[in-house]
Amino acid sequence: MEKKYSITVAGGGSTFTPGIALLLLEHQDRFPIRKITFYDNFAQRQEVIAKACEIYLKENAPEIDFHYTTDPETAFTDVDFVMCHIRVGLYAMRELDEKIPLKYGVVGQETCGPGGIAYGMRSIGGVIEILDYMEKYSPNAWMLNYSNPAAIVAEATRRLRPNSKILNICDMPIDLEEKMAHMVGLQSRKQMSVGYYGLNHFGWWHKIEDQDGNDLMPKIKEHMAANGFADALSGSNQHVEASWMETFAKAKDVYALDPNTIPNTYLKYYLFPDYVVEHSNPEYTRANEVMNHREKNIFGICQNIIDKGTAKDGGFEADAHAEYIVDLACAIAKNTKEKMLLIVPNEGAIENFDRTAMVEIPCIVGSNGYERIVQGAIPQFQKGLMEQQVSVEKLTVDAWIEGSYQKLWQAITMSKTVPSAKVAKQILDDLIEVNKEYWPELK
Ligand code: NAD
Ligand code: G6P
Ligand code: MN
Repeated sequence: MEKKYSITVAGGGSTFTPGIALLLLEHQDRFPIRKITFYDNFAQRQEVIAKACEIYLKENAPEIDFHYTTDPETAFTDVDFVMCHIRVGLYAMRELDEKIPLKYGVVGQETCGPGGIAYGMRSIGGVIEILDYMEKYSPNAWMLNYSNPAAIVAEATRRLRPNSKILNICDMPIDLEEKMAHMVGLQSRKQMSVGYYGLNHFGWWHKIEDQDGNDLMPKIKEHMAANGFADALSGSNQHVEASWMETFAKAKDVYALDPNTIPNTYLKYYLFPDYVVEHSNPEYTRANEVMNHREKNIFGICQNIIDKGTAKDGGFEADAHAEYIVDLACAIAKNTKEKMLLIVPNEGAIENFDRTAMVEIPCIVGSNGYERIVQGAIPQFQKGLMEQQVSVEKLTVDAWIEGSYQKLWQAITMSKTVPSAKVAKQILDDLIEVNKEYWPELK
């Protein structure tokens, strides 16, 4: 009989949980499931999502054993894969990560600049705690992590849990590859072969070919030069609001800086921080948008399902965009050897870059984990930017491990989004005040 898998979703109360649960059901022909468990440390939040999913599962896949819990032993015993998407501090803290830097005229963003550093200082402990539970109760399981900020979380787990079975992955390159496939008239990004190098939320495509080896870069570059990613579709229902459209359009200016490569959209925060700050509302940031739309919408749908006692009237949608998570689980479970971008220790894959850096590069994924695909040497422009940014990430992890105020001040000062050590200190001191409950004490 074909093996069936047991999945634990850590961060069961996440706005992405229903979409992922439904997606798992849709892909059972290639990735069959026997058990799904939601785990969260916030019982009431998770309960709304979980009760609605329980109703959906009973109606659509009664054979799957479903549980939700806040008890680690129950959550992590008899598990094959942990899908981890936690947000330590919830949206309330994301709002502060975004608003505090803006008070000082600095980019306020969830994963970039001081906001990303603050979020990293909260996430490290949360993700490591879950990794330890997984290893204690299911030592053979794999963790697929997409909790942010993935760059800092990945560096922390490399340092603190070097032998753990954790793979860190991001969906931004996937969405952008879908857009580029659309630009050149292909059905799917899977019909392209790509070369990519960078850090998470900080990278570039240097090669894109079709399955016959034809160079697709010239056509994609025409689109980038004219409209950035704005004139392409991806089918994703995630990156659709006006603020995302603005990011896709701004990629035109990011592209202009190095027309030899295609940039990740996140580079706008580092290369055009003045523009980003001018176009931010310090009173209403992305966290407010997400709380007022995605969070309200998902929790509303769930409550409605619970009140009616049925999910038959619809409302729930599989998150097609998250298919990459099933691809990744499948690659390990079935040794598919699929090529995917992962965040992994460099070890020479980018030849002229720190071997210990956690870089985002194409890898081949199978039952034994991943094999890096060597990307060669990178140009001075990218190398310089990446050395600065990887230092920010490494100093943040140092600060967390050592409880060092000095290192965190250095990390924030080092960020390309921050104009001076003085401003870095002001932002840091404000961040410490509001993060007392979440950060290690800094001396
Ligand atoms: P959310 O706030 O809706 O959900 C996060 C859940 O995690 C909450 O229910 C919270 O209670 C729970 N949680 C927090 N700390 C925990 C802990 N220590 N143990 C167990 N549960 C804990 O957040 P969201 O917007 O749905 O995002 C979830 C995560 O996924 C975030 O980290 C986000 O940045 C990330 N994300 C990553 C990608 C990617 O490309 N890598 C894409 C989308 C979302
Ligand atoms: C992209 C990134 C994720 C990030 C998300 C934020 O998908 O790759 O890492 O979490 O955007 O989206 P949001 O809608 O929460 O602002
Ligand atoms: Mn990401």
